[in-house]
Amino acid sequence: MTDTSTRQFAVITGASTGIGYHLAQVFARNGFDVLMTADEDRISEAAREVETPGARVYSVQADLSKDEEVERLWKEILGTGRAVDAIALNAGFGTGGDFATETDLKKELKMIDLNVKAVVHLAKLAAKQMVGRRSGRILITASIAGTMPTPQQAVYGATKAFDLEFAQSLYYELKDTGVTVTALKPGATDTEFFHRAEMDDTKVGTSGKQSNDPAEVAQQAFDALMRGEKELFAESLTTKAAGVAGRFMPDSVKAAMHEKMAKHGTADK
Ligand SMILES: NC(=O)c1ccc[n+]([C@@H]2O[C@H](COP(=O)([O-])OP(=O)(O)OC[C@H]3O[C@@H](n4cnc5c(N)ncnc54)[C@H](OP(=O)(O)O)[C@@H]3O)[C@@H](O)[C@H]2O)c1
Repeated sequence: MTDTSTRQFAVITGASTGIGYHLAQVFARNGFDVLMTADEDRISEAAREVETPGARVYSVQADLSKDEEVERLWKEILGTGRAVDAIALNAGFGTGGDFATETDLKKELKMIDLNVKAVVHLAKLAAKQMVGRRSGRILITASIAGTMPTPQQAVYGATKAFDLEFAQSLYYELKDTGVTVTALKPGATDTEFFHRAEMDDTKVGTSGKQSNDPAEVAQQAFDALMRGEKELFAESLTTKAAGVAGRFMPDSVKAAMHEKMAKHGTADK
């Protein structure tokens, strides 16, 4: 699928829905051709929706929790003949519940494979190419959850803490190479995330309209990425305030607040 477009080229993982889908929309509206990737076949439908006049949109279906699928995705990216100007490492999922007695180890290990391993794998491939060209932008979707203890989402929170620290470290490591790295730290956002995490009976999972808007999260992330910012909380003032306040709060308080929102059965309390 070699292409001769002169527009910039962005790759977005987890682009079939939620934050990633809106990121693809924002990139396409702002002069980028985009390659959208996700695990299920609805990614082709999502790609059709993102097509705008002048923007070339590619879609690749790949399960990024598997090393060989990450490698296959990278081959598809190289196959376009396009240099990657920006990559949004956004695909991820969570799981909720008590670690010792409720959550499923297989699911948690797969989460680590997707939220952590695939992020490192794709960042390595993209950063090498970008440093070689002395140009590029990397967005890593972490979470406000990565800035606090997350009882009832213990493994998920840890994967997001990894993403955050990884992005921050790369930001400094690459700062003189022409490559920027931005960590996105959304608060609870109105996507399929909580349903997939089997958290429909939790306060955070049912916050609906009070949650952040994925389109706004994506817009703020894109703007911060273009400015080469290190990190951002997104998107509401409440989320930004909570992010800043969290720096001054003891872990015990943050843990208790998180647990109250994330525990099964807290939906109507
Ligand atoms: N929603 C929130 O409250 C929130 C808050 C902070 C951070 N985040 C982070 O934001 C990112 C996007 O989440 P979202 O809220 O937009 O959730 P979402 O609507 O559930 O979207 C998740 C995306 O990840 C893809 N994905 C899931 N498993 C995959 C796999 N094995 N291989 C490849 N792609 C896979 C999904 O594709 P398929 O549909 O094909 O499975 C989908 O495109 C995640 O990293 C999440 O941790 C979310």
